[in-house]
Amino acid sequence: MTVYAVVNTKGGVGKTTTAVHLATMLARTSKTLLIDGDPQASAASWAAWRRETEHKTSPTTTCLTGKAILSEGKSLAAGFDNTVVDAGGRDSSGLRSSLLLASVAIIPVGASNLDAAAMTDLLEVVELAKEYNPNLIVRVLLARVDPRTKDTGEMIEFLKEQNLNLLNTRVCERVAYRRAIGEGAIVHEIGKDRHAIEEMDAFLEEVTK
Ligand SMILES: Nc1ncnc2c1ncn2[C@@H]1O[C@H](COP(=O)(O)OP(=O)(O)O)[C@@H](O)[C@H]1O
Ligand SMILES: [Mg+2]
Repeated sequence: MTVYAVVNTKGGVGKTTTAVHLATMLARTSKTLLIDGDPQASAASWAAWRRETEHKTSPTTTCLTGKAILSEGKSLAAGFDNTVVDAGGRDSSGLRSSLLLASVAIIPVGASNLDAAAMTDLLEVVELAKEYNPNLIVRVLLARVDPRTKDTGEMIEFLKEQNLNLLNTRVCERVAYRRAIGEGAIVHEIGKDRHAIEEMDAFLEEVTK
């Protein structure tokens, strides 16, 4: 039983996009729960749109907030092979609960200096969580990457200085992601952007290894 928590205190970095893709890819081969832990309930909206379509496999989706992510999340997750938590932004009790429930924390980050600056808060929360959850694995995912800029290099340097474990997979900024989420789908099901599909397959393989 593995619990993945997709976390960042910053909004708009791709948490929901990552969580929804991971949960749906896992659901193809195992019983998977998607916990929407963000009061903004974007993952739940995605699930509602999905119910109106005919996609084959879906994760079971539920909404939990605050401390319930840990208390209720724990008993719910026990009935599934994999659980993915889309943890809301800010330094909330929901974020801390997600990090205590998780075996793997995935931190999507953009590649700008602003993203690096905004990570200081998050890293403090992660360090604290590790005191109570010492086996927590933390992996950083560079997301919404613009291949035309040099920002990625600076971000990689910053992550190295922080001794953070960066996934090799880079998720680029692609219309396919936005479109897929809006249709209650994932990029595989839209099937139009081969690069997006390859990125997500590589991400899944890396993160489940
Ligand atoms: N790789 C990507 N390429 C293009 N658009 C993306 C990508 N990842 C996320 N987005 C878009 O950016 C916005 C924020 O993404 P989202 O996953 O909701 O982030 P968060 O949950 O961290 O706030 C959404 O409109 C989403 O469709
Ligand atoms: Mg979100």
